[in-house]
Formats: sequence, structure tokens, C-alpha cells
Amino acid sequence: MKTTKLVMLIVTIAIALFMLIPNPSWAADDGAAIYKAKCAACHGADAAGKPAAKIPSLVSDETKKASDDDLIKKVAGTAKHPAGVKGLPADDVKAILAYIRTLQK
Ligand code: HEC
Repeated sequence: MKTTKLVMLIVTIAIALFMLIPNPSWAADDGAAIYKAKCAACHGADAAGKPAAKIPSLVSDETKKASDDDLIKKVAGTAKHPAGVKGLPADDVKAILAYIRTLQK
């Protein structure tokens, strides 16, 4: 009986830890969702941008070559970006960037 309780306790702790630790594959899902919610209206669902509206492509050769750091800085530093984009938490921007990198392939 004692062993059963101990096993139950360990399983409960394991489940609790599993729920607390962020899973990278979920982060990628989040990136896609946040991109669609915050970026797609301007940059397009395929991230090709809108040349007529002077919105740059995020899948151009230039952006493919740009470093993660540079692109992360541009999300917060682009004057034309609305406050909701500039103020995104760093983790969200990283998740979006991971999603954009998948679109660039
Ligand atoms: C209101 C429209 C709008 C939204 C929403 C928007 N962008 Fe932009 N973005 C622009 C415009 C316009 C530029 C070009 C600004 C310039 O040239 O000064 C730009 C530039 C960029 C650049 C720099 C590209 C380059 O080649 O220099 C990146 C990276 C970028 N946006 C990413 C994002 C991401 C990621 C999101 C969502 C979190 C987002 N943008 C949301 C309009 C938008």
C-alpha cells in the first residue's frame, strides 16, 4: 500500500512538472498563431508582404540571410509597427521568428 501511494505521488509530481515546463513544439504552434493574429494582416499569411503598400516580404533572400537578432530588433524597432507588435514579449517574438523561418524554407 505504501509503495502505491509513493508511486502516485511521483506520477502527480511528474505530470505537474510536465505541465509547467514549456515544450518547444508548442512554442512553434504559438508562433504560427501569434503571427496570424499580429503580423499576417500586414505581411500576409505567407509572409510575402505587400509591395504596393510598402510592406516588406519576410521570406525574401534578404530576410533569409538576416540574423535572428536583427529581425527581433526590427519587430520592436520598426516605426510603422503598431504598439501591439512593438510591445510583444521577447518569447512571443522568438516563437514568431521560428515560424517565419519555417515559411522561408
Ligand atoms: C500595421 C502593419 C504591420 C504589422 C501589423 C506588422 N508589420 Fe512588420 N512591417 C510593416 C512595415 C510597413 C514595415 C517596413 C517599415 C519600414 O520600411 O520602415 C515592416 C517591417 C518589418 C520587418 C523588417 C523587414 C526588413 O526587411 O527590414 C520585420 C522583420 C517585420 N516587419 C516583422 C513583423 C512581425 C514579426 C510582425 C508581427 C509580430 C509584424 N511585422 C507586424 C508593417 C507591419
